[in-house]
Amino acid sequence: MPSPVVVRAPSKVNLHLGVADLRPDGYHDLTTVFQALSLADDLRLAPAASLSVRVSGEGAAEVPTDRTNLVWKAAVRLAHLAGRAPLVEIAITKGVPVAGGMAGGSADAAATLVGLNELWDLGLTREELSTIAAELGSDVPFSLHGGTALGTGRGERLLPVLSRNTFHWVLALAKDGLSTPSVFRELDRLRAEGEPPRLGDPQKLMQALAAGDPHTLAPLLGNDLQAAALSLKPELRRTLRAGVGAGALAGLVSGSGPTCAFLCESEEAAIGVAAELAGAGVCRSVRTASGPVPGARVLDTEA
Ligand code: C5P
Repeated sequence: MPSPVVVRAPSKVNLHLGVADLRPDGYHDLTTVFQALSLADDLRLAPAASLSVRVSGEGAAEVPTDRTNLVWKAAVRLAHLAGRAPLVEIAITKGVPVAGGMAGGSADAAATLVGLNELWDLGLTREELSTIAAELGSDVPFSLHGGTALGTGRGERLLPVLSRNTFHWVLALAKDGLSTPSVFRELDRLRAEGEPPRLGDPQKLMQALAAGDPHTLAPLLGNDLQAAALSLKPELRRTLRAGVGAGALAGLVSGSGPTCAFLCESEEAAIGVAAELAGAGVCRSVRTASGPVPGARVLDTEA
């Protein structure tokens, strides 16, 4: 019987998220720059008599443990491709906020692919895993890839981006989540009514990443979904103001929200901003994180 495998799955923040018009297939073309963050979920995959998913940690009660969980779908898909039964128990310890705009579900799916590739000794390459990842969801390939990357198409086509230095973040977790499709729909509605300003291209942002300077990067952060997330959850405006008021260089809604991400000058500054934000009563809880970090990876194989 193979030993259980433990995989760490990073969260992400979109430093730049440019959203084009709705496509006929219901998706939007994106131009996005992802950064993988140290706030992560851990998954333990162990051989078992049947497929099961258990969840503990941050927001565990909100996560389904049946076939609707992306992790379940990832296990079934990979088992099918490998011509075997998905006999595995998957225990997820959540650190990433659920429905928070930080790709927690995608990270778990990516970790499942990496973990089962190891557990079942399938020998699939990163490219092969990435193709399966793209079928599971738009953010799953990035959760595999990690680091800093430019995403196009639905967000699944990736190119690595040069990023010097580690950046320090404070994350303000909201009381309830936002569903990604509803935020995209709200953006379509806002655009049908008027024209919320659209981001330009991310060239300057990528130069700032290559230079590794948070002060240059801060004013270039942007997210076309932010107007939609704020429209659905107006209280996030206060959260964003409070983070900048507490000394962050800039704040933005992470992905489709409602988590707000604040870029800070240093790790020390992030700890200070986090403490002040936690006391301001503008969010459910606060975390610090740094990035970029690697994509989903095996941590340890238990003896
Ligand atoms: O790919 P994924 O299943 O994560 O996408 C969830 C939903 O988010 C899609 O059904 C769609 O409504 C929206 N979406 C989009 N454009 C993208 C990615 C996601 O409209 N590029």
